[in-house]
Parts: sequence; C-alpha cells; structure tokens
Amino acid sequence: MNTTPAQTPVAAVIVLAAGGGTRMKSKRSKLLHAVAGRPMLSYAVDAARALEPRHLVVVVGHLREQVEAHLAEYCPEALTVEQAVRNGTGGAVAVGMEKLADVRGEIVVTYGDVPMLSGETLKALVAAHRADHNACTVLTAMVPDPTGYGRIVREQGQVARIVEHKDATEAERQITEINSGIYVFDADLLRAGLPTLQPNNMQQELYVTDMIGYLRGQDARVGAYVTDDLWQTEGVNDRVQLARMNAEVNRRLVEHWMLEGVTITDPKTTWIEADVDLESDVTILPNTQLLGATSIATGALIGPDTTLRDVEVGENAHVVRCHGELAVIGPNAEVGPYARLRPGTVLGQRGRIGTFVETKNAEIGAGSRVPHFSYVGDAYLGEGAYVGAGTTFANFDGQHRLPTHVGDHVFVGANSVLVAPIEIGDGAYVAAGSAITSDVPPGALAVARGREHVSSGWVRRKRPGSRAAAAAEDATGEVHPRIAEARVRVQQTNEQQEAQQ
Ligand code: UD1
Ligand code: MG
Repeated sequence: MNTTPAQTPVAAVIVLAAGGGTRMKSKRSKLLHAVAGRPMLSYAVDAARALEPRHLVVVVGHLREQVEAHLAEYCPEALTVEQAVRNGTGGAVAVGMEKLADVRGEIVVTYGDVPMLSGETLKALVAAHRADHNACTVLTAMVPDPTGYGRIVREQGQVARIVEHKDATEAERQITEINSGIYVFDADLLRAGLPTLQPNNMQQELYVTDMIGYLRGQDARVGAYVTDDLWQTEGVNDRVQLARMNAEVNRRLVEHWMLEGVTITDPKTTWIEADVDLESDVTILPNTQLLGATSIATGALIGPDTTLRDVEVGENAHVVRCHGELAVIGPNAEVGPYARLRPGTVLGQRGRIGTFVETKNAEIGAGSRVPHFSYVGDAYLGEGAYVGAGTTFANFDGQHRLPTHVGDHVFVGANSVLVAPIEIGDGAYVAAGSAITSDVPPGALAVARGREHVSSGWVRRKRPGSRAAAAAEDATGEVHPRIAEARVRVQQTNEQQEAQQ
C-alpha cells in the first residue's frame, strides 16, 4: 500500500520524446519548435521539475542530437536514454526504466510534446494517486471529439483498461473520456508489467496503455484524475496544431498580463512570449509582438505595430511603430514612429530616437535626440546632444567597423556625415551638410562643405521664355517677411548672448 506523505517528491519522471514528429515535415525536431518563443520540450521539463523528482529521464530517438543539445543547456540534470527501435509507448517506458533499475516509489510518465501540461496538474495527479493508494493513476479528460485518442473503459465506475482508437469497437469509440498519456505508476509494478506487453494490436506496437489491464489483472488499484482544462492534454503533431497551441498559450499569457494590470487594447493582435516581463500600467497598442526576454517598466506605452525582441524598456517610455532587438530604452525616452533599433542600442533617459532612424551599437546619452531619418552605428553620444535630420554615422570604411564619439551637448547640423573613427568634443557644433573627417575640438564649430555660389540672372539668360523666367520677372526681389523675421530673431539672440559675455 502506498503511504507516501503529500510533500515527498516522486521517485522519477520519464518524459517520452523519441517519436518521429514526421507530420511536422521539418529538419528540426518537433520538440524544439517554439511555443510562445520557447522550445516545446522546455515546457515538459518545467512541468516535470515542478514535482522535484529524484530522477528525470528523457527518452530520445528521432533527431536525438538536437534534443540532447537542448537538454544539456536547459536541463543538465536530465538523463537521456535512446530508444533505438520505436516500438511504441510501452517500449519507450521500458527504455526509460533501464535508467531507473533500482528505483522504487512513484514513476510519472509524461510526453515531450504536450506543452500546456502544468506542474500544478502533475502535482494534483500525484496527490490523487496517493490519496487513493493506487498502483497507477491516469490523467484523463472528457472531450467533445475523442477521435484518435485512447479511450478509458470503466467497469462499475472503475478504470478497467484503455483501448486505442484504432483497436476500439464502435461502442468503445462512443466513450468520450480519453487517455492523456500521462500517468503515475508504482515502480515495482511497472517493472513487473512491462515485459508482459505484447504488440498484438492494429499498430503492432507495445502499448503502455496495456499496463492498465495488466494491473487490474493483478488486483492492483487503478484510478483516473480527470482534468477539465482540455488544453493541458493536447499534443502537437503538425504545424496546424502548433499554430493553434501558440494561439491558446498566447491568449492565456495576454490574459495573465491584463489581470496583472497591463492595458492591452487588442488582445487578438498582441503576442507576448513566455519569458517577457511586464509591470503594471504598461499600455500595449494593437499589432505588437513582445518577444524573448523583453521587459517593460511601468507607465510605458508600446505600439501600435511594434516588435521588440530582448529589449528593456524603462518607465514611461513611448515606443511607437518600432522594430527593436537587444536594445535598452531608458525611462521617459521616446522612440519612433518608424524606428529600427538593432543590437547594442542603449538610449538614455529622456532620449529620443525618431522617425526613420536606424541605430546599431549606439549608446545615446540622457536627453540626447536623433529625431529624423538618420543612421547611428558604432556611436557613443553624451548627454543632451542633438543630431540633425539625415545625419549619417559613416562607421564602415569598406573593411572595418569604426566608432564615433559625440560629446555632451554637441549639435550636429542636418545632413552631416561623420566619418569614423572620429571624435566631436563636448559642446561642439557641426554645420549642416558637413562631411566631417577630422576631430572637432570641444566648443568648436566645424564647417565642411562647398561654399554657395549664386549666379544672378542665370534663368533669364539660359531659360528665356520659360515659366521660371516669367516668375522671376514678377518677383519683387524682397525677402519674404517670414524669413526676414526669422533672421531678425536669430540676430537678436546672437546679440543678447554676446552682450551677456
Ligand atoms: C498515445 C496513447 C493514447 C493517448 C494518446 C494521447 C498509447 C498506446 N496510446 O497515443 O492512449 O490517448 O497518446 O496523446 O500509448 N513515443 C516514443 N516512442 C515510441 C512511441 C511514442 O517516445 O516508440 C512518444 C512520442 O514521442 C509521443 C508519445 O510517446 O510523445 C505518444 O506517442 P504517439 O505515437 O503520439 O501516441 P498516440 O498514438 O498519440
Ligand atoms: Mg500523439
């Protein structure tokens, strides 16, 4: 009889992951295809780990090198064992048990391709197993369409056996209680029963499900734990199911974050991967994908039409129509609309990366602004700098990627080219349209462009009779009041500043 106290860990979890995954039609193992940005197998491993088992065994086979490489990184404590001949779930469990030769107690069997199965459900399954002193407890579900699944055949309410869809009679196919394929077994009884399995069924495989009939034949207790969350027993066999699974996992993640205080205006077009972290009072506008290890601090506004992968966004920042990767956006900063932040972008607090701006390896200090169509690569900007429209950081000489330093409170006029490696000192000015190829000392003004040459009367001489010539003829030749006013304004400011010295 099983008298294990509730808090004792199970002896082992065996994760079955040798199956072919042929319906995925992929060079990549099915188990490494992503659900909410993480390999499918990582969910099975997480659920297994929640039980804190003394042993964690993963039965591998098809594309085992890929699966083992993932496990070595994600779950180094997992033991892997190869099922060389895929002769069914019974054969797979037997291979797993080879790694657990002297182990006694409870063996949990799960699948690698059931991503939504939670640790909580496994714990509830084990608790039911213990409470009922069972030799085996099966996780089952009542489903509207049980086609394809093994059916739970009960006699006087007790689980008597499991019959596979392919082997079932018409009457058995009416049963809507299905086998999830997830079980708790007593180790000794499992070890005793496995060698008795025979492949005399439609698929000519060893069925672990036949263990139930075996145990009942031994007068051992078999129970079922029925879950009402059908998704937890759903496997993924093809890419249609993969997409459905992703949609459901995403729906739940989006709902989770809304309940944590995040405003999401359009849940259907918002994708949030499993490792994303959001604070309360974040607002996410439609068509936004938050991927990888992205984190967003409180008060930030993200979207619409924004994709962020591994991006850290500070408090109250605004990120609009942006594509960002491996970047940091400081508190109260503004990005977009239409900005591309490539890896290594770090925007300081109150900084601004505006429209049609691309950045890469760019540290942009607090309060610095790059508001309009610019390329900023391998760049280090101090605080309070201003980079005018159309400025290019020419960081590539055809062979090397080279850095540019721009000091605090530097002003770079529009349409300038800063040819790296170069340093613009603190407080320096660069005149519009300059191609800067040598260092600008602090506080200097650098002008590097052709002088304007005006040829008076050129249109009258070269384009006589044209509309341009007629327009020129009619012109008063006086400066427009708006321009004149602006010049006066600039002049007055200059005079005031000179007077202050
Ligand atoms: C199995 C169950 C069925 C249940 C269903 C739930 C059996 C005989 N049937 O059917 O009652 O309703 O799961 O999804 O167990 N695997 C191996 N090695 C093998 C065969 C399978 O590792 O030789 C692994 C697969 O990778 C997969 C799992 O076991 O993760 C289930 O195998 P699959 O072939 O999908 O079993 P089903 O026919 O779906
Ligand atoms: Mg299956």
